[in-house]
Amino acid sequence: MDWGMKNRLSRIIKPDTGRTVMLAIDHGYFLGPTSGLEEPGKTAEPLLPHADTLMLTRGVLRSCICPETDAPIVLRVSGGTSILGNLADEGRTVAIEDAVRLNVAGVALSIFVGSELEKQTLLGLAELVDLGGSRGIPVIAVTAVGKEMARDARYLGLACRIAAELGANIVKTYYCEDFKKVVRNCPVPIVIAGGKKVEEKEALDIAYRAVSDGAVGVDMGRNIFQSTHPVAMIQAVREVVHNNMTPDKAFDLFNTLAGEQAATGT
Ligand code: 5RP
Repeated sequence: MDWGMKNRLSRIIKPDTGRTVMLAIDHGYFLGPTSGLEEPGKTAEPLLPHADTLMLTRGVLRSCICPETDAPIVLRVSGGTSILGNLADEGRTVAIEDAVRLNVAGVALSIFVGSELEKQTLLGLAELVDLGGSRGIPVIAVTAVGKEMARDARYLGLACRIAAELGANIVKTYYCEDFKKVVRNCPVPIVIAGGKKVEEKEALDIAYRAVSDGAVGVDMGRNIFQSTHPVAMIQAVREVVHNNMTPDKAFDLFNTLAGEQAATGT
């Protein structure tokens, strides 16, 4: 692995803890202005100081994020679908040369294992691994779970392993029962998406269980930016991921920070 690839990976997975808190705000590429992301720049701005990376699309990066930011960028480079169409029918939406120009730390695309378009998305991953590798840019494979798929260790284990076999440097998946088996069978680091918004305590518990079971961190979106207090939430998630804070203590921290932020209007 060349120096550039190692350097970019170290900007995603922090060397001091071997963990990462990635903030995901890429949802609009197929969902449009989803709740909490109506104005992505305003949503991201207070969260960036607490995020290890920001995952988003080219359009939002260029139009909403200050280029002076020192937050490493993970660029969503797949798309071409919408919530109104067939979500599995994704292709690549960003040339690797533009990812280089945008000085990203990584590129991400979704695979739809088990869908009728799995081959298209898996070959798209293989192609992106070649392109990213030629420029020293790591690839994050996102295991999208179709409505017809069971979000269990068997399915997620299959999808994560296939992504790793095809050369992904990091795999983003979902937490599930028997998650340790998913981690054990995947030879590259795994981060978990937070999934649909749940109570903050539950989201913190999922993050804690995931890193306890071997994930290197989270790539969380809705459970942060749709929280009643997003800044307090990402700070609590950081304590869980980087310092193994238990969910109970992290939830207490969330409530304390939320109260302080409410009092000061921050
Ligand atoms: C959307 C994505 C998101 O990046 C991923 O799901 C993480 O966001 P969340 O924590 O809200 O699930 O891939 O397609």
